[in-house]
Amino acid sequence: MPKVLITTGGGDCPGLNAVIRAIVKRANQTAKWEVYGSMEAFNGVLRSPKEIIRLDDEKVAGIHHKGGTILQTTNKGGPFDWPVQQEDGTWTTEDRSDEMIEYLAREGYDAVISIGGDGSQKISYELYKKGLNMIGVPKTIDNDLACTDYTFGFQTAVDIATDAVDKLVTTAESHHRLMILEVMGRGAGWIALHSAIGGGAEVCLIPEIPYDINEVMERLNERYVGGRGFAIIVIAEGAKPKDGTVVARESDEVGYKNPRLGGVAYQLSDQLKAAGFKHDIREMVLGHLQRGGTPIAYDRVLATQFGVKAMEMAINKEYGRMVSFLDHEITSVSLETATDGQNLVDPEGFMVQTAKGVGISFGD
Ligand code: F6P
Repeated sequence: MPKVLITTGGGDCPGLNAVIRAIVKRANQTAKWEVYGSMEAFNGVLRSPKEIIRLDDEKVAGIHHKGGTILQTTNKGGPFDWPVQQEDGTWTTEDRSDEMIEYLAREGYDAVISIGGDGSQKISYELYKKGLNMIGVPKTIDNDLACTDYTFGFQTAVDIATDAVDKLVTTAESHHRLMILEVMGRGAGWIALHSAIGGGAEVCLIPEIPYDINEVMERLNERYVGGRGFAIIVIAEGAKPKDGTVVARESDEVGYKNPRLGGVAYQLSDQLKAAGFKHDIREMVLGHLQRGGTPIAYDRVLATQFGVKAMEMAINKEYGRMVSFLDHEITSVSLETATDGQNLVDPEGFMVQTAKGVGISFGD
């Protein structure tokens, strides 16, 4: 019987379990494949003893609405950068990709479906180039993967962020306050842009459009006529002022490559005070609330579509490709193209025009 291995890598994301369930259900139909899952991305294959579990109908029953991933995940290390502690306590990394590929061949795996974001899909592409039959499924709340209009998890994050704006409006209005809501997204402003439009914010600051604090002040002053008023700013964690830098710190976690973003709301608050803003300001960093919990129906459906498509690609031996949602079609693109670039907000695009059309300032 043919065998497929599933991994979930990178940050968790609402909808991961719905993808896993869809793969298993589709596999159990005409093709009758055996499905396995490696715990914590590829760590389950690399650890000794192995942490690989059989995924059958019983294991995936009813998981489509559960957040997180039953396979667990990691955004550290991986087969090309396996962390190894030296005698003096320091860490180096080891490339264990050949050993892993040999193990999977020996065990008779026909394909590997890797559900993950840009980092995971780069690993998928490297493994594919070394001969592993890889299929990618795009995942991230940031919606920053190239070659797919949407990733699952994004709309759930937008819903959570928009709900936060709605809640902040009532308290801002009561106190004549400026509330600054910082949302996730790394280098992409999609969550900020969608929740600013959905929640009716006055200002939206995103990485793709560096802001001028004086322009932000101008929009806020319009809201505080006669000393009364209130306002909402949605700022993406990766936003930066013109001539400024992103607020980030190095991670002290072993094998964690990305800088950790967060705290730009406080920087903006200080800048506004320095620029003469006289009213109360409160800052709110929404953080991992955007990633936890139940996926909304849209993401469950998209994740299910992605899972079914990924399994059909395995059956049809369409390797070296990533599932994608393009122009309302579930299709696939080569991993090479999918990992070459990012999906960022176009400052001249229709979504920014829409926001500007309802009076949202980008501080530009
Ligand atoms: O990529 C998803 C994401 O949630 C980003 O929006 C955020 O910057 C990052 O992951 C946070 O990573 P961690 O969970 O490692 O803190």
